[in-house]
Amino acid sequence: MALKLSPKQKHYYANSNAKINVSHGAVRSGKTFITNLRWLKFVRHGPPGKLLMSGRTKESLKENVLDDLFAMVGEENYRYNAATGVLYLFGRKIECRGAEKIDSEGKIRGRTYAGWYADEVTIQHKEFVKQAIARCSVSGAQIFWTTNPDHPKHHIKTDFLEKKSLRDKGLLLHWHFYLEDNATLTPDYIEMLKGSFSGVFYDRNILGQWAVAQGRVYQDYSEERHNVSREEINRMIREREFMEYIAGTDWGISAPIAANIYGVTRDYKFYQIAEFYQSRSTTEEVGRWYLQQEAWLGKKISVIYCDSAEPDRTLELQKMGLRAMNANKEIDAGLNTVMTLFKNDRLFVCSETCPDTVNELLTYRYPEPDDPKAALDTPIDADNHSMDAKRYCLHNYLRYRRI
Ligand SMILES: Nc1ncnc2c1ncn2[C@@H]1O[C@H](COP(=O)(O)OP(=O)(O)OP(=O)(O)O)[C@@H](O)[C@H]1O
Ligand SMILES: [Mg+2]
Repeated sequence: MALKLSPKQKHYYANSNAKINVSHGAVRSGKTFITNLRWLKFVRHGPPGKLLMSGRTKESLKENVLDDLFAMVGEENYRYNAATGVLYLFGRKIECRGAEKIDSEGKIRGRTYAGWYADEVTIQHKEFVKQAIARCSVSGAQIFWTTNPDHPKHHIKTDFLEKKSLRDKGLLLHWHFYLEDNATLTPDYIEMLKGSFSGVFYDRNILGQWAVAQGRVYQDYSEERHNVSREEINRMIREREFMEYIAGTDWGISAPIAANIYGVTRDYKFYQIAEFYQSRSTTEEVGRWYLQQEAWLGKKISVIYCDSAEPDRTLELQKMGLRAMNANKEIDAGLNTVMTLFKNDRLFVCSETCPDTVNELLTYRYPEPDDPKAALDTPIDADNHSMDAKRYCLHNYLRYRRI
């Protein structure tokens, strides 16, 4: 097969000869592809000794890296035991490890490695990263990292990419990949990718910047563009413009319980038609509210995604005859889902029936960049009840649908 490498990929392949070699930047920009080729060269010609490969988890490493690597080398050149994570590639032993947890570092303590390939290094645990570097003690050992950008104060940026001493001594080299550095992406695919990220996630995953998350979380929400009147919602319900109704619930005890109901159109636009937002209320109360809404809509709500931190409350809703289930609560991907819906004008809210949601949409923010909490990269944990209900509902509904 004739290889069509982009100039950036060629440059990386020819020059990644430092102790630590980092390719970082946009999604789908060809980082893994070229690092795989480089790793194969290293496996065949690097110093002898055991090697290490790591990902967020062993399974994500398999999915993101090993499957491509195996397709490149052909069946006869590797043997992989998914249970132990031991890989033989061209006869060389490689330990494959998950690295996201605090105790991941224990799995490699005391080992000696001749080389290490880390996928998604920013989401590997800091202690694992430190330990793995120390373990690469064989003379001529080399390290290859790939990652998407993260917060600008992330330790991979401050302690490695920006460390002048490492760069001056030629110990670290890094390459910034952009979408155009992958010559195989079609313009349509690039457009699709651009449409699937918004806000800080766009800056990081499309522009490849180490951008800080700041200001309003839902900057793309505009009262003018996304608020809809009660009259319009009632018309849409009457004229059966919604193919189904879905909902999200965020539990609270002294904090409010927030519940949102959305109508979903046939072209997958989401209209928040109603909200429940009350402090010191019970699961039964919100359950009765949902039943009343179903009676008014003349239709069952297809699914109610609930905060999975209190599964017995979800169970109580099920016992009342509601189709409640526990939600996946991943934050960044969930925020990006909601941001992207606003950006693409696919999410609307009835301001007359959902005033608390509108209020939260306008105030939900990230910490100021100089606040130490900013490095946590998550929005301020206050006045976010309806925001959580919204994220649970929309992100879980869309997670497995390619819409
Ligand atoms: N030179 C190339 N020749 C053929 N296919 C390529 C080449 N470069 C990249 N690809 C393909 O393009 C797709 C995206 O590339 P790759 O997985 O390397 O991107 P990435 O930068 O690692 O993305 P992510 O940040 O999402 O992990 C993959 O399917 C990969 O096989
Ligand atoms: Mg990759």
